[in-house]
Amino acid sequence: MAGQDKSDLDKMVEEMQTSIINDARETFSEEVVNRWLNPRNIGRMENPDGVCSIRGPCGDTMEIFLRVRDGRIVNATFMTDGCGTSIAAGSMATDLAIGKTVEKVLKVSKEVILDELGGLPEESEHCALLASNTLREAIKDYLTCEKDPWKRSYRT
Ligand code: FES
Repeated sequence: MAGQDKSDLDKMVEEMQTSIINDARETFSEEVVNRWLNPRNIGRMENPDGVCSIRGPCGDTMEIFLRVRDGRIVNATFMTDGCGTSIAAGSMATDLAIGKTVEKVLKVSKEVILDELGGLPEESEHCALLASNTLREAIKDYLTCEKDPWKRSYRT
């Protein structure tokens, strides 16, 4: 009986998840839904060369971590406690950074992230802005620490 209950519960959860995903597909691009469900580059990084955490006006936080070699981003990861679109935007921002020079990554704007995501509803565009601002500030942190390595040593 308990097994039957669990199976019914599992089925109910599965149906709810399918319904939520189908609703999301009506509102967001396939790129957004895919990155929300299977985010790339998610996670913290040990001893990053550049890092920044920003809390957006919505109250959600994004962190971006960078590994830089010879002026090029060789790895970028992110964490967020925000919405599905902030997950998609953080995933896209870090993907757009990997492999590029520091100078090029400074040009990854909210508009670039929105374009690559296939757009967002106007009320969600601030999630892309949070990702681009966090990426830019992580680059600035890298540049500051390059000039003054003591600053990196004070990080916790
Ligand atoms: S980041 Fe806060 S609503 Fe998307």
